[in-house]
Amino acid sequence: MTGKSAVVTVDNKSVELPVRSGSIGPDVVDIATLYKQTGQFTYDPGFTSTASCESKITYIDGDEGILLHRGYPIEQLAEHGDFLEICYLLLYGELPSKAQKIDFDYRVTHHTMVHEQMSRFFTGFRRDAHPMAVMCGCVGALSAFYHDSTDITDPHQRMVASLRMIAKMPTLAAMAYKYHIGQPFVYPKNDLDYASNFLRMCFAVPCEEYTVNPVLARAMDRIFILHADHEQNASTSTVRLAGSSGANPFACIAAGIACLWGPAHGGANEAALNMLAEIGTVDRIPEFVARAKDKNDPFRLMGFGHRVYKNYDPRAKIMQKTTHEVLAELGHRDDPLLEVAMELERIALTDSYFIEKKLYPNIDFYSGITLKALGFPTTMFTVLFALARTVGWIAQWNEMIEDPEQRIGRPRQLYIGEPQRDYLPVSKR
Ligand code: SDX
Repeated sequence: MTGKSAVVTVDNKSVELPVRSGSIGPDVVDIATLYKQTGQFTYDPGFTSTASCESKITYIDGDEGILLHRGYPIEQLAEHGDFLEICYLLLYGELPSKAQKIDFDYRVTHHTMVHEQMSRFFTGFRRDAHPMAVMCGCVGALSAFYHDSTDITDPHQRMVASLRMIAKMPTLAAMAYKYHIGQPFVYPKNDLDYASNFLRMCFAVPCEEYTVNPVLARAMDRIFILHADHEQNASTSTVRLAGSSGANPFACIAAGIACLWGPAHGGANEAALNMLAEIGTVDRIPEFVARAKDKNDPFRLMGFGHRVYKNYDPRAKIMQKTTHEVLAELGHRDDPLLEVAMELERIALTDSYFIEKKLYPNIDFYSGITLKALGFPTTMFTVLFALARTVGWIAQWNEMIEDPEQRIGRPRQLYIGEPQRDYLPVSKR
């Protein structure tokens, strides 16, 4: 508490509400007693001004374009760290020592296989099922296989479930891809690092040896880092809300995957690439920018705008650099989609509408071009986002369970329906 307070006056009655300060960022007005003292609720349907929890994991300053994980800037983590190192940081709060990193990497590596019967789940899906639909089903089904890590009151079981989720998401994602394209599943190899293992499970075939390109593996690892966590975004809030009822971690992560799928959220990377393909050439950009500005047209520039970032998304800058690295390595420097993307960005950043609305490219704007160049179909883009975000969801879920202030989430409403009325028999309607 800060000793500061806010006064709310309702019907000539004033109530004093405590103000709480964090370590950095805006203070919050604690309204927990508002209804009890005034009989009134607050109203904030998109949670634009509402904090749902205290957290130590990620801090975002949307005006300054700052993103910190446990205090470390995303630029430094993406430049110097690897994904499992950031997983350790998000889960435990500190960067691992050399010994801790070796132990953590070993533990994750030795959880990468899934129960052999999981493979039968896939055969129930159509081959052309969207991989995100498959992931929703299969991740939720993990709770049917791993009963020994579903007791959320046991910290040891929570950590085992956390490691299992981080370790098995690449395997399930690769299986969803292989099933989608009609190729046999490829088992994980314990002598490969996390990103290399994933690329091999996706792109190796039994007919020949597969050699991982280290430049592409590093790019994949960095893409995972950029997507790892992002404060209380829609899918993380979904995981927290599901977890607040005591649901097991696998079911909570499945709920997060379902929420991430939406095109306004994690589905934007797939939608952004489809939009760039629809624009096709630089000369058609003005037509689409005009549509994005037209209040009567529901079209939006996918990959632009953000609830929090009203400046450049720091992840988008790193993603753009990664895009150029990957295209250079693969000899696609002149990818027409990149040409359209860069010209669209230039035009949008000089257009008064986008400047006024503070719409900048977000992480999804360039990620699609990179993932397409790496060989993934657009239907796999959000699966890769979910793979990376799993550690963020799990870290936030653990923090929620350990928070003594957290209880089942149960928002109220502003009722605008019919006042009480009596039933009329059908003969009188
Ligand atoms: C992610 O929350 C997170 O942290 C999410 C995420 C994460 O890591 O978890 O960062 C990942 O989801 C990134 C965002 C990916 N989505 C997209 O790229 C889809 C396109 N963007 C928009 O749908 C939109 O910008 C949102 C959903 C991202 C943000 O929506 P808000 O905060 O509710 O903003 P808004 O819809 O109220 O827009 C404010 C204004 C509106 O105009 P007015 O009604 O004020 O006249 O800006 C306009 C909008 O019409 N606007 C856009 C636009 N985004 C907002 N106009 C054209 N194109 C756009 N992309």
